[in-house]
Amino acid sequence: MIIGSDLIFYENLSSTNSQASLLLKKKDIKEGTVVYSDFQTAGRGQSGNIWESEAGKNLLISIILYPSSINPEEQFHISMAVSLGICDFIDRYIPGSKIKWPNDIYIKDGKISGILIENSIMGESIESAVAGIGLNINQEKFTSHSLNPVSFRLITGRKYDLGICLKQLLADLDLRYKQLLYGNRELLANEYIARLHRFMEWCTYRSGDIIFTGKILNVTSSGRLQIRKKKGKVMEFSFKEVDFIP
Ligand code: BTN
Repeated sequence: MIIGSDLIFYENLSSTNSQASLLLKKKDIKEGTVVYSDFQTAGRGQSGNIWESEAGKNLLISIILYPSSINPEEQFHISMAVSLGICDFIDRYIPGSKIKWPNDIYIKDGKISGILIENSIMGESIESAVAGIGLNINQEKFTSHSLNPVSFRLITGRKYDLGICLKQLLADLDLRYKQLLYGNRELLANEYIARLHRFMEWCTYRSGDIIFTGKILNVTSSGRLQIRKKKGKVMEFSFKEVDFIP
């Protein structure tokens, strides 16, 4: 196993991603080392958002990777592998998880997991990557409602053993990471695309001031979203260039 070969636990810290980056700077850390915690005082989400997680209720992990065989232009494949690994784990308990491009994991209209991948690129290669994952398991109340957060507990009414969940999640992520490194990368990308929330459905989007109907056709190897406009041509968007309108 690569992912989960070493585990480093902190009862609480600012952010597992920040701690993993700090460890990377200080000493030699084995690929696949997982930094995890029961509580983050400054959990970080995408675009400078905070990640909310009640103490001891959810999984908060960061994985240290050295994906040197991945070309920086194709670094989005790491996101694909991590997203699919999380979906594989969720499938063990709850069917129907979807990936909201680029890498939010949803069950119906609720966000159950968020991913923050921080790559360090040196010239032509990815020197290291910290893949941070927040996965809502036993939390029943959330204070921030903007992302419509949900948890395993809110969906099924059951309480889950976090130790068992962690082990299973790491095993699922490990398989996907190995598929990324040694397996069929095209298959991985196809699976990612097939799992996309709103894939091939006519839905509403906003880009700048323009609201339009379109359907998601594809995600490029650099991670750009391709949408066919009902009135017009196929458009490509980078993260933050397009909003999903309910
Ligand atoms: C997002 O959807 O905005 C990404 C959220 C990522 C949260 C996780 S929790 C573990 C790791 N440590 C952090 O500070 N952030 C990530």
